[in-house]
Amino acid sequence: MAAKRRILVTSALPYANGHIHIGHLVEYLQTDIWVRFQKLMGHHCVYICADDTHGTAISLRAQAEGRSEEAVIAEMSDAHQRDFAAFGIAFDHYGSTNSESTRRYCHEIWKSLRAAGLVAEHEVEQLFDTAKGMFLSDRQVRGTCPRCGSKNQPGDNCGHCGATYSPADLADPVSVLSGTTPEVRTATHLFVTLDKERAFLEEWTQSGPLPSESANYLKNYFFNEKNENGELRPKPLQDWDVSRPAPYFGFEIPDSPGNYWYVWFDAPIGYIGSTADWCEKHGERVDDWWRSEKTEIHHFIGKDIQYFHTLFWPAMLKVGGFQLPTQVHIHGFLTVDGEKMSKSRGTFVRASTYLQHLDPAYLRYFYASKLTSKVEDLDLSLDEFVAKVNGDLVGKVVNLASRSAKFVAATGLSKKYPDDGGLFADFASAGTQIAKDYANGDYSRAMRRIMELADRANPYVEQAAPWELRKDPAKAQQLQDVCTVALNLFRQLCIYLAPVLPKLAVQCEELLGDPILNWKQAKKHLLGTPVAPFKHMMQRVERASIEAMIESSREESAPDLSTNAAAPQDSGEWLEKEPLAEQIGIEEFGKVDLRVARVLEAKEVPGADKLLQLTVSLGGTGTRNIFAGIKAAYAPESLVGKLVVIVANLAPRKMKFGLSEGMVVAAGPGGKDVFVLSPDSGAAPGQRVH
Ligand code: MSP
Ligand code: ZN
Repeated sequence: MAAKRRILVTSALPYANGHIHIGHLVEYLQTDIWVRFQKLMGHHCVYICADDTHGTAISLRAQAEGRSEEAVIAEMSDAHQRDFAAFGIAFDHYGSTNSESTRRYCHEIWKSLRAAGLVAEHEVEQLFDTAKGMFLSDRQVRGTCPRCGSKNQPGDNCGHCGATYSPADLADPVSVLSGTTPEVRTATHLFVTLDKERAFLEEWTQSGPLPSESANYLKNYFFNEKNENGELRPKPLQDWDVSRPAPYFGFEIPDSPGNYWYVWFDAPIGYIGSTADWCEKHGERVDDWWRSEKTEIHHFIGKDIQYFHTLFWPAMLKVGGFQLPTQVHIHGFLTVDGEKMSKSRGTFVRASTYLQHLDPAYLRYFYASKLTSKVEDLDLSLDEFVAKVNGDLVGKVVNLASRSAKFVAATGLSKKYPDDGGLFADFASAGTQIAKDYANGDYSRAMRRIMELADRANPYVEQAAPWELRKDPAKAQQLQDVCTVALNLFRQLCIYLAPVLPKLAVQCEELLGDPILNWKQAKKHLLGTPVAPFKHMMQRVERASIEAMIESSREESAPDLSTNAAAPQDSGEWLEKEPLAEQIGIEEFGKVDLRVARVLEAKEVPGADKLLQLTVSLGGTGTRNIFAGIKAAYAPESLVGKLVVIVANLAPRKMKFGLSEGMVVAAGPGGKDVFVLSPDSGAAPGQRVH
């Protein structure tokens, strides 16, 4: 028997400033499945997580809501834990980075960094919002790109020409928080001189703890300058800025009063802090988990935060005398029907919204069927979701039990295992490969193998047809035997699926009276035990429930303008660009006849780069032909059926492509940035806009 391993597992610590959504769940479900699998293998595995609570985003929210940061993070921690629990994500401990234990380890690691000579001081120019009284992060500033002159670009890189710069380089910077012009302030920041650990990091990142894609990607940080012969040359690792001047919500740096650790400094230390809290409760020693070669450490993270976990974090651990991660498991991002999650499309689905409409087991199984050990994005195709849940879970797995259990409710299982043509033995030996797949993070392959087994169990039941056997009292023994086989195979599948579908494992246990506690149980027949009356296990998923979930998500994410706390602070740049026109009286406005119209048809115009040709209706039978310069911003098919506003009494204009009979009203500077005005639903074509 393999020795019992000690395994510490973490998922990334979710930010306390937002709710858990189905994108996050990729990671927490991936981790939970792995942990449940290791526990089922009999290992001593502990799953640690916490909320990531520090930084400006939390302060802003607290300020807007007129309460303390502590009040916000307490509420979010409850919400997060409620969502995770509902999805069956079973942490051994869920802590917070805003804890005394995390602070203690920050102090400890900081002391080690100082002692190792890894702390440097540099002057940093940062933009300060005098209206809000705070320093601004890169993304909280917008302005004109110093390279190409594009307006309204974020403070870190230009969306137009791709230049990277710091916010102080922007021409005419504006704070997105207050709309005011921030001032440049110089402050001393503390830095970790990562390059001093360069040799260690270079070696460690390439020594196997990372997926190969990530290890290769990291080479860019070490070697990315070409010499004259085109060979890659080493490049120094940049110092890492780990402090922020007050005011900042976080831990004050003990030997640098008025400076606080940047949120990404204390966040990973929260892994240790949260472990310490768990240890305290369970009479364990932190050093047995973080400073012992006998313990494996496994981090699960998304590809967006690898930099922190594969360079900064190992350096901190090493210098602090902690054990290095055994493995960093890195996953890609979730897309829905092939596109980024989107609030307006309703695919930015919160965990709590999902739960109002669908069974969490569906998502657990669906993600499992998609996850591999590769760093690749994963698509939630809604059609595939329906097909997998109904076809695999309900059709192949649950069906095995529902078609056989009721016939043995009175007799229980046979005393002796009947001849099943070798099915049970094959299922038992498949367990080895399936276990390997789980261990390697290849859940997708594990699910495929399990469904292949199910595909062999179902024809057995169909051929044996217990529903026919029961009609003939002379075949009672045969009936019991067939159902004994079906339920034993069902149970094997439930054991293999237990990491993914813990609730199904419990249902199986209730049906057959034998708890699923260990992987090896799949090798042993279950015989002579009573069978409980069959209870419904899982519903088919209805397409309508998915549509309802999407609709709720769309509604939730519509901006709530009832409280101005949540309203965005809009900058004055557009008014500056186009000052208001000369004042007019109402009679002058009345000369412009604006009408609601419905787009009946929209198509590209051969030979025109910018135009779409629209056929719109003002109600009744007549239609209008309108050429609109919105091609870069709208796909024609997205416009069909839409209500728009047109200037209906504009003199027709003859264009190269035909006659344009009106104008569609839109905002924005042009090109991709055009926003067609659309009345709220309820408006009818032909109605006048006053
Ligand atoms: N607070 C940091 C992590 C600190 S770890 C010391 C953070 N938080 S997060 O809430 O933004 O993300 C938490 C995890 O969820 C990250 O690993 C991130 O990659 C993952 N995901 C967030 N959105 C995701 C998708 N849309 N798809 C897949 N995973 C995603 O980062
Ligand atoms: Zn630019």
